[in-house]
Amino acid sequence: MGEEQKSGIRVPKIALVGGGQIGGVIAQLCANRNLGDVVMFDVAPDMPQGKTLDIIEASRVDNFSGKVTGTNDYKDLEGADVIIVTAGVPRKPGMSRDDLLTINAGIVKTVGENIKQYAPNAIVIVVSNPLDAMVTLMQKATGFPASRVLGQAGVLDSSRFATFIAWELEVSVKDVNAPVLGGHGDTMVPLVRYANVNGVPVMEQFERKYKNAFKAKEVMDAIVARTRDAGGEVVRLLKTGSAFYSPASSAVQMAEAILRDEKRVLPVCAKLNGEYGVSGYYVGIMAVLGKNGVERIIEMQLNEEEQAMFTNSVNAVKKLVEDMQGLGL
Ligand code: LAC
Repeated sequence: MGEEQKSGIRVPKIALVGGGQIGGVIAQLCANRNLGDVVMFDVAPDMPQGKTLDIIEASRVDNFSGKVTGTNDYKDLEGADVIIVTAGVPRKPGMSRDDLLTINAGIVKTVGENIKQYAPNAIVIVVSNPLDAMVTLMQKATGFPASRVLGQAGVLDSSRFATFIAWELEVSVKDVNAPVLGGHGDTMVPLVRYANVNGVPVMEQFERKYKNAFKAKEVMDAIVARTRDAGGEVVRLLKTGSAFYSPASSAVQMAEAILRDEKRVLPVCAKLNGEYGVSGYYVGIMAVLGKNGVERIIEMQLNEEEQAMFTNSVNAVKKLVEDMQGLGL
């Protein structure tokens, strides 16, 4: 576990596996929020040391005192309470997340085996894509209970959905709740019926705004499509990589919920055990996050149409997992 200070207060330890764009922003956010000591692992020599040195050199300016260090040695994962895995390559324009399967699966498997060896008690948050398959592989490689292996996708997808709704309604995004369930791919399931602004259904407000149910639906359909494609939209604009600020913030929110035992209710990728009629697969659902990781899955009531979209998304995840198994992983 994290370092024992002279005072007896234990400082939590957060390990980041992957020192790329997402890893860098995560390290900076964790430091600024005083979540604990951060160690960043990457295979590239000197790079995580350089990146973390850069971050820690802002500690005087930003007023944080936690440690932020870089390493090329998996042994330094020892004692981590939470490990956030971003290792792997991001997609380029024209690629889907699924196109990353072969290359990232090999990387994530190696990472999982090292986590099992050096941090057997950690809770692991996977961010690498294709997300649902990589979380599945991480659980297999570590052998950890499902409650201690989860994936980041729903927090980000829901934040994107909420952002577009807030723009449309010209209200603060802070008051918008807009859950997205399902796999983190083109089949994800933005739950329109559950989207609300402080309890007021979003569709009701669209209908009031446009005084035309057909137009209101058209606007919502466009927002749903943009949400599903939001990662791709950023990739097309960046040209050299994929989104990293918003995925990093989302992963840190999950880590914080776990480290501070907040019992936050967040959409995350977790292993289903009968919920929605699915067993044994990792997919995005609503869950309670606390010191034990995924402490409970909250099953939402889906109508027929929503359940069909969810099942379709689960089938896409199943297909990906089968492809991965076909690679011998
Ligand atoms: C995205 C990638 C990180 O959704 O999955 O932007």
